[in-house]
Amino acid sequence: MKRGYGRVIPINGPPEEELLPMFQLKNVTRQFGKKTAVSSVTFDIPQGQMVGIIGRSGAGKSTLLRMINRLVDPSSGSIAFGEAEVSSLRGAALRKWQRDCAMIFQQFNLVPRLDVLTNVLLGRLNHRSTVLSVLNMFSRDERLMAIGALERLGIEQTALQPAGTLSGGQQQRVAIARALMQQPKVLLADEPIASLDPLNAKIVMDALRDINERDGITVITNLHTLDTARNYCERIIGMAHGRVVFDGQPKDLTSAAVAQIYGGDTAIEESMTSTSINIPTEAPRETASAGSKPLALAGL
Ligand SMILES: Nc1ncnc2c1ncn2[C@@H]1O[C@H](COP(=O)(O)OP(=O)(O)O)[C@@H](O)[C@H]1O
Ligand SMILES: [Mg+2]
Repeated sequence: MKRGYGRVIPINGPPEEELLPMFQLKNVTRQFGKKTAVSSVTFDIPQGQMVGIIGRSGAGKSTLLRMINRLVDPSSGSIAFGEAEVSSLRGAALRKWQRDCAMIFQQFNLVPRLDVLTNVLLGRLNHRSTVLSVLNMFSRDERLMAIGALERLGIEQTALQPAGTLSGGQQQRVAIARALMQQPKVLLADEPIASLDPLNAKIVMDALRDINERDGITVITNLHTLDTARNYCERIIGMAHGRVVFDGQPKDLTSAAVAQIYGGDTAIEESMTSTSINIPTEAPRETASAGSKPLALAGL
């Protein structure tokens, strides 16, 4: 593994230390009509890495992530995860892959009128039959697991509120809790903080880092902000016009490299691509609503 982290028992169960599956992308290309969104992308990612993908809007970042979890199919090229060729998975194997490979989005993609707990439990959908899920027959263990995930994200007090009533930062944490319910091997995040204020951006990025470090889950996150990628990611992949134009550690991201990724005047670009997450490290969490007892109310 990359670093000698002391491991705690994650909610995802014991880490599979013996298996170190690795992403291997080879010449991955996606065209939309005449437009080449992603052009011959090749790189490997070892299990457990925290990778930031940066680049201008339209560079191909979202398309690349969506190809990894098969929301979009590559036009050509190969995406392998360990022994499996992701791009040729079908049926049950594809569903298993999409379970192993959780994704969170800029706009959270929760069901706003459903309560937070149910939204989180929806992360179990791929683990069970649709009939049982529709009948709302989540097991006690699954409910406890969902509460545990919410506690881990510091939002257990919101369990019974409609998800749509939460702040953006809280909603993104619900989305992360839902992703954890999938017990994923990989967490893909497409601009997870682009709609958030700096405090909530920090809370969400800290949560992603914690999941990466404590659970050993590979995190691949698109970020349009350079400073966040520098602060949180051990590896940065820079894209421009569908191609990888930088792949290295934050320290290697020179102004020349930044210019290649973003083009134009690098001084201006650096400030343009900064969200300034300059929050004290012990930032207060959003406070719990007084007296709520989600465990009891959830029938546990
Ligand atoms: N479904 C689609 N149909 C047509 N063009 C698309 C589609 N998705 C993305 N594109 C185009 O592909 C390019 C890359 O888009 P995207 O992957 O969303 O970039 P980024 O996430 O870096 O902003 C853009 O030019 C975009 O307009
Ligand atoms: Mg995008």
